[in-house]
Amino acid sequence: MTRKMYIATFGCQMNEYDSGRAARLMVAEGYETTDDPARADLIFINTCGIREKAELKVYSLLGRLKPLKEKNKGLVLAVGGCVAQQEGPAILDRAPYVDLVLGTHGLDQLPPLVREIREDRGRMCRIDFDYNAVRRPDSTAGQGIPGLKAYVTIMQGCDNFCAYCVVPYVRGREVSRQPDDVLAEAEALVKAGAREIMLLGQNVNSYGRGIEPKTTFPDLVRRVAAIPGLWRLRFTTSHPKDLSPELIRTMAEEPVAAEHLHLPVQAGSNAVLKAMGRGYTREAYLEKVAALREALPGLGLTTDVIVGFPGETEEDFAQTMDLIERVRYDGMYSFKYSDRPGTRATAMPDKVDPETAGRRLNDLQTRQKVISLEENRRLVGRRVEVLVESRGIRRPDQLTGRTRTHKIVNFVGPDHLVGRLVSLDIVSAGANSLLGVLPDQNGFLRESFAVE
Ligand code: SAH
Ligand code: SF4
Ligand code: F3S
Repeated sequence: MTRKMYIATFGCQMNEYDSGRAARLMVAEGYETTDDPARADLIFINTCGIREKAELKVYSLLGRLKPLKEKNKGLVLAVGGCVAQQEGPAILDRAPYVDLVLGTHGLDQLPPLVREIREDRGRMCRIDFDYNAVRRPDSTAGQGIPGLKAYVTIMQGCDNFCAYCVVPYVRGREVSRQPDDVLAEAEALVKAGAREIMLLGQNVNSYGRGIEPKTTFPDLVRRVAAIPGLWRLRFTTSHPKDLSPELIRTMAEEPVAAEHLHLPVQAGSNAVLKAMGRGYTREAYLEKVAALREALPGLGLTTDVIVGFPGETEEDFAQTMDLIERVRYDGMYSFKYSDRPGTRATAMPDKVDPETAGRRLNDLQTRQKVISLEENRRLVGRRVEVLVESRGIRRPDQLTGRTRTHKIVNFVGPDHLVGRLVSLDIVSAGANSLLGVLPDQNGFLRESFAVE
């Protein structure tokens, strides 16, 4: 009987990418995936510790999985990702039924370590950083059948040390993958049917440090954009301080580069931005937004905001509210500040009490929802290009897809449109999605086919 693995993923797209990689590594070992943990011989939990809530979720899942381990002595329970990196052996102590704790640089080691554990070598914790791992070509890159949309990690780690953020500690220093490896992986994915690629890194704009011959992020974007058969190219996350005019130009010039940018601002007040160590002022940020909008009319712009950072006053928060009025984002992810072990902000004075932070978050989200709705309504009556992804989960009578600007559009249509680009007329708008209809005839523009 083929061994089965169940993978649970928390956190960001980079973790999703890593989980895909873990799956490919174990498929090469003869495993197959299952979505039922009770039938699994290997459970891999890929964890996130960006906020305390994310970390708590990991322990609650572990608690729920414990009975499976009691029932099935052959089950190997592995914890990887950022909480594994941060907590290390403490996880083995706290959850005595966990077999393996694997750090963020150790994915390559998953197959041999699982083998060792099966041969009864006890419980293990491997959390050393191995900076060469990311420089080596990935033996599994591009294997398997990708979805319509695929991620490609282009770098690992982060050197920015924003005062609130755990990422530099749990992912290590910033290291770029070799451009040829990135390209080969993207090409393999497109050849196997992916039509949209999203390049991933904590700060993609600083891609290329230490790469010979010199390759910048715009260089990489141009190379990936030239892959025949690729329809859309996105990337995340762009750090505002490193967003260059050259990247803006590249986005404007490359036809497959989608008109969408996630540009996390975090706060609208210069005092808070400074305390966060973000490396830009609100004025510099607003200038970059203006340059983007000028070069890319109709650009979809999204952001992340933290409220209640230590020392944030009502006046500081008012500056954040003012900034969202000026920028008018299409969408926003917003969070209450959360203390993370080892970060500078954790030791800062003047913590904002949870009620105040909660009220600010609520005010921000309420206002942003109205802005998102108003921005979406501007598209009513317009015809947009949509990449059709699937049938709606909650509304199976509808298909769902995204515009180039990353807005969700739902519409009634036949199954065979999944995987195609269609043009749709937008008939109504909510804060989070649009409703479209197929124009009278032949709505689709191009058909999905594998490039030989
Ligand atoms: N590299 C990306 C961010 C990755 S983390 C960037 O620089 O923007 C994703 C988001 O989580 C961040 O943008 C931030 O808004 C939020 N975040 C990170 N640490 C946090 C903390 N300690 N408390 C609350 N939110 C946090
Ligand atoms: Fe964290 Fe800042 Fe790095 Fe983003 S740029 S991952 S917020 S330290
Ligand atoms: Fe979470 Fe790690 Fe990503 S902490 S947000 S999974 S880099």
